[in-house]
Amino acid sequence: MVDVKKIAVLGAGQMGNGIAHVCAQAGFDVKMRDIEQRFLDRGFETIKKNLGRSVKKGKVSQEEADAIVGRITGVLSLEDAVKDADLVIEAIPEVVQLKLDTWKEVDKLAPDHAILASNTSSISITQMAAVTGRPEKFIGMHFFNPVPVMRLVEIIRGAATENATVEVIKEVSAKLGKETVIVNEAPGFAVNRLLVPAINEAIFAIQEGVATVEDMDKAIKLGLNWPMGPLTLADFVGLDTLLYISDYFVEEFKDSKYRAPALLRKMVRAGWLGRKDGKGFYDYSGDEPVPMRF
Ligand SMILES: NC(=O)c1ccc[n+]([C@@H]2O[C@H](COP(=O)([O-])OP(=O)(O)OC[C@H]3O[C@@H](n4cnc5c(N)ncnc54)[C@H](O)[C@@H]3O)[C@@H](O)[C@H]2O)c1
Repeated sequence: MVDVKKIAVLGAGQMGNGIAHVCAQAGFDVKMRDIEQRFLDRGFETIKKNLGRSVKKGKVSQEEADAIVGRITGVLSLEDAVKDADLVIEAIPEVVQLKLDTWKEVDKLAPDHAILASNTSSISITQMAAVTGRPEKFIGMHFFNPVPVMRLVEIIRGAATENATVEVIKEVSAKLGKETVIVNEAPGFAVNRLLVPAINEAIFAIQEGVATVEDMDKAIKLGLNWPMGPLTLADFVGLDTLLYISDYFVEEFKDSKYRAPALLRKMVRAGWLGRKDGKGFYDYSGDEPVPMRF
C-alpha cells in the first residue's frame, strides 16, 4: 500500500487552501499549486487567518501554526507540484475540460505509485480516471467547505478504483481527523445530489417572489434546524460552482428537475459569485452581510 508522506494540492482557492491547511496540520509535506502568484498569496493569507483564529482560541500554539504554514510550499509549476507526490488532490474549478486536461498532464508528471484524487463536487470520477494510465489509483475525495471545520470526506469509487486505493484514502482522511463515507460514482454522489436541488429550489422561490432572501434563510434555519440558510450556503459554495453542478446534473441525469434557476445564471453572468467575490445573495462589502433585493 502507498505510504503517503507528500501531498500535492492543485488549486489554492476556497477548497485547495483548506485542504493544504488540514494536510499540513496532520504532518504531511504539502505543495500547493495555483496558476498565478496572487492566487497562491490569497491561499496562504486564508490559511494564516484561519490558523490565527485557532491560536486565539488556544487550539494550537503560535509555534505549531508557524510549523504548519512552513510545511506548505506554494508552487506555480505543475511539474514541481507533483513530481515527488505520493498523493495528488485536485481542487481546481468545476470545469470538465479543465480537469481532464490537468489530469492528463499530472499522470505524465507524477510518480507511478502516486494516487490521484479529485475534490470535484459532481464530475464523473470514471471519466477523469479514464484519461490517465492509472484508473485503479484514481478516486474522489470530496471535502466540504470550510475544510478545516467540516468533518466529512465523501470517498467516491470510480468504475476501476481498486480497494487498496480506497484504503489509503480512508487512512489519510482519518489522519486529517475526518469521518468518511464511501459511495459509488453517480453525479453529485450522496451529499450534493440532495443539496444542490434544495438550494436551487430556494433560489426558484426567491425568483418567484415567495420570500425575501433573509426570510427564506431564516425559515430554513429555524424551521429545519440547518446551521445556515440555503442562500447563505449558496454564497459559501460559490454561485459559479453551483451553476456548473446544476448544468452538469441536467446533462448527466437527462432530467430537467435539476435545472438551474434563471436568477442563478444571471447572477453568475453579472460576476456575483458569492462570498469569495464579495457579492451574491448577500453583499459582503460592509461589516455585516446585507441581503440583496431581486
Ligand atoms: N466551494 C465549495 O463549497 C466546494 C465544496 C466541495 C468541492 N468543491 C470543488 O472544489 C473545486 C474547487 O472549488 P473552489 O470553491 O475551491 O474554487 P475556487 O474558484 O475558490 O478555486 C479554484 C482555484 O483553482 C485555481 N486554478 C485554476 N486552474 C488551475 C490549474 N490548472 N491548476 C491549479 N490551480 C488552478 C484558480 O486560480 C483558483 O484559485 C471544484 O471542483 C469544486 O466543485 C467546492
